Amino acid sequence: MHSFITLATLIVAASAARPFLNEPDTGLEEYLGTDFPVGKLPNLTDIRGIPDFDFAARNYLNASSYSFYRTGAAGEWSYRNNLEAFSRVRWRPQALNDVHSVASTLPTKILGHNFSAPFFIAPATRAGLAHEAAESNLVKGAYAGDILYITAIYATLSIEQIAAAKPANGSQVLFQQLYAAANLTAVQNNLDRAKAAGSKAIVFTIDAPATSTRHRAARYDLGNANSDTATLTWALYAQLRNMTSLPIILKGITTVDDVRKAISVGAPAIYVSNHGGRQLDGSPSPLEVCLEVYENDPTMFQKIEIYADSGVRYGTDVLKLLALGVRAVGLGRPFMYANAYGVEGVTHLIELLKTEIAADAANAGIQDVHRIQRERVNWKPLTTNGF
Ligand SMILES: Cc1cc2nc3c(=O)[nH]c(=O)nc-3n(C[C@H](O)[C@H](O)[C@H](O)COP(=O)(O)O)c2cc1C
Ligand SMILES: *[C@@H]1O[C@H](CO)[C@@H](O)[C@H](O)[C@H]1NC(C)=O
Ligand SMILES: *[C@@H]1O[C@H](CO)[C@@H](O)[C@H](O)[C@H]1NC(C)=O
Ligand SMILES: *[C@@H]1O[C@H](CO)[C@@H](O)[C@H](O)[C@H]1NC(C)=O
Ligand SMILES: *[C@@H]1O[C@H](CO)[C@@H](O)[C@H](O)[C@H]1NC(C)=O
Ligand SMILES: *[C@@H]1O[C@H](CO)[C@@H](O)[C@H](O)[C@H]1NC(C)=O
Ligand SMILES: *[C@@H]1O[C@H](CO)[C@@H](O)[C@H](O)[C@H]1NC(C)=O
Repeated sequence: MHSFITLATLIVAASAARPFLNEPDTGLEEYLGTDFPVGKLPNLTDIRGIPDFDFAARNYLNASSYSFYRTGAAGEWSYRNNLEAFSRVRWRPQALNDVHSVASTLPTKILGHNFSAPFFIAPATRAGLAHEAAESNLVKGAYAGDILYITAIYATLSIEQIAAAKPANGSQVLFQQLYAAANLTAVQNNLDRAKAAGSKAIVFTIDAPATSTRHRAARYDLGNANSDTATLTWALYAQLRNMTSLPIILKGITTVDDVRKAISVGAPAIYVSNHGGRQLDGSPSPLEVCLEVYENDPTMFQKIEIYADSGVRYGTDVLKLLALGVRAVGLGRPFMYANAYGVEGVTHLIELLKTEIAADAANAGIQDVHRIQRERVNWKPLTTNGF
């Protein structure tokens, strides 16, 4: 009995010593000092990594705006797991591999469109909570950094206002996220408006057939931006594809079976995501889903373009997903937080992440970020069959 208590005490002490990493300690608060005023943004030059934007946004935004961006569903276990899953697998760096030109391999084709990096801005509502220019900063930042921006239908600005922030010569590619609605005439209008505004693809979100349990945001009466819970079915997907000439990507896939199903119905691409842990608590992280897909059938990553998001904060997170065959990776909250600085915040984030991806790849002995051998990562802690 005594030894049991001692063991139990040790276990409690061990878990207490390893708190959940919501906002990793990057040293920013220590650097700024305890007298750094609430409501102020740190200088952008002091933002050295993506997690620094978490502190900046929490300090600068009011509690309701910050909570809406930050919230996860229910116990936020999926939100935490998204961040922590990446730490469970480690590199097997290859030494003495000539990696000097790895930075030149960052350019990425997404559904046939060229971008400068294998990451993009994920669709997120209400950019106006962080900056009065709202989504237009994200459009301009994405253009300057030459990355994809997927605009959300429940944005602060309308589809047309967002499109007006693009260069007039049509050289910027945006994709448009949509939710289905019970009223298909309204959906048809949105599909037509997106096409007229120049969007090159529709990203159809399928992981929100109901509203979600979000205590942190509900406190401020800021629930889901989407309250129209239409009946989501594969038949509806077929119907939507009939309503537009734009390709329709499925966003919010979290199982091998649904990847298979998407391939079988000829979806142009899929987007693995658990909505940043905002929808179904207990849903798996993208790294776990993509690993399961790989273990079942690695050729699925060749059969269809697979994108992924949820919890990506570092260059190594991007590389771990790419190692399984993911084409490109999205970030949601980091860009919403960076938008507090306007366009400069958005471009700063893009530059930070590009620099990290190239440096981290080189240190892992990777020559081409789109051809990472899966053995470069020891996946055992996340696998059941232990390959
Ligand atoms: C404030 C906020 C609003 C979001 N709104 C939408 C949305 O309208 N449609 C959608 O498909 N996903 C939405 N998402 C989910 C993102 O597209 C993305 O899946 C998620 O943020 C990725 O996780 P991350 O924040 O950890 O990077 C939203 C996310 C946030 C943080
Ligand atoms: C931010 O930059 C300004 C101007 O360069 C400088 O005066 C100020 O001390 C900086 N603030 C911090 C917290 O470093
Ligand atoms: C996209 O990049 C490829 C090289 O990977 C190039 O051949 C092609 O011309 C580019 N397309 C456009 C539209 O710039
Ligand atoms: C918080 O900030 C947002 C965005 O500026 C604003 O719309 C909202 O009214 C503010 N809420 C409170 C309680 O001050
Ligand atoms: C389109 O316009 C932008 C902004 O004016 C400019 O930087 C870019 O070079 C133009 N691209 C083409 C292909 O003309
Ligand atoms: C459906 O949407 C259209 C277009 O927005 C609107 O005119 C119509 O009134 C809506 N129908 C219903 C039943 O709400
Ligand atoms: C697609 O449209 C065609 C022509 O209008 C129609 O025959 C077909 O049944 C539609 N398919 C679906 C899945 O709605």
